[in-house]
Amino acid sequence: MERIVEVEKVSFDSVEDASLRPSAWDDYIGQNKIKNNLRVFIDAARKRGEPIDHLLFFGPPGLGKTTLAYLIAHEMGANIKTTAGPMIEKSGDLAAILTNLAEGDILFIDEIHRLSHTIEEVLYPAMEDFRLDIIIGSGPAAQTVKIDLPRFTLIGATTRAGMISNPLRDRFGAHFRMDFYSPSDLAKIATRAAIKLAKPINENAAHEIARRSRGTPRIVLRLLRRVRDYAEVEGEETIDHDRAKVALDALGVNEHGFDELDIRLLTLLVEARGKALGLNTLGAALSEDGGTIEEVIEPYLLANGYLERTARGRIATIKSYEVLKLAAPTDQPRLF
Ligand code: ADE
Repeated sequence: MERIVEVEKVSFDSVEDASLRPSAWDDYIGQNKIKNNLRVFIDAARKRGEPIDHLLFFGPPGLGKTTLAYLIAHEMGANIKTTAGPMIEKSGDLAAILTNLAEGDILFIDEIHRLSHTIEEVLYPAMEDFRLDIIIGSGPAAQTVKIDLPRFTLIGATTRAGMISNPLRDRFGAHFRMDFYSPSDLAKIATRAAIKLAKPINENAAHEIARRSRGTPRIVLRLLRRVRDYAEVEGEETIDHDRAKVALDALGVNEHGFDELDIRLLTLLVEARGKALGLNTLGAALSEDGGTIEEVIEPYLLANGYLERTARGRIATIKSYEVLKLAAPTDQPRLF
């Protein structure tokens, strides 16, 4: 049992991440629409004395899906058990998790799109009727034993909304799409976390980290820790703008916040000189599947105007040519 639940990888950074996690609703910055909706759900459920409905969060990695699940548990005064789709290999694994839940518990399943069809079938009656149907034996002698489960809340998280089957999606009471964070919200997250790390950061330095963090709190926290290391080695009490810039440059962090895959993707598009490239072509060139490109890599680039989706495929915008310091083809008027 304990091997299946509570499976988060424990590195020093992730332990520290957990301690940087906001523990109160008001400390959670950004995602205001989601927060306001959840507040209503939680208040209503608490008034009724019931667990909240099952919730599904989707969006690119690092935007705070797990953090929100922990906050919801905290607000509901509920226990949270966490696991991930790939950890649940057999129906028995899921049955063990479900039968160990208590009334009102929250079960958080990360990467829920990776559950197999068979496991999903076990989940349906559990979500709908808080019932576990176990089949004993096989063939004509097979019997179904029904076990009542405590009323629990399932919180599912996925980076790949397109891979969630319709029956599973339909069993969640509410779906929330996480947005990328604005640089000013990311700067607030950096400022708050720096205080918790006992190495306060000034406003310009917080904005420098925010600008290079791809709209993603997890990246802010990682860069903040590395910049803090530099300030520490220099014996500085606080992190100023110069230290942040020098540290981020030394770490090779791109000034637009891109990671290596972003750069490889944009380079392919820019080198295509205005010819649209389809997901399959991009996937083959990057050794990624098309869905990952579409749902994990592309959203940030699209949201920030670095590429465009057309009926024939993806093309780089003028902004990408500028970032990669290449002249845009002059015979491609739609780029301008
Ligand atoms: N740490 C990670 N995500 C956060 C958020 N949205 N607000 C505050 N701190 C965070």
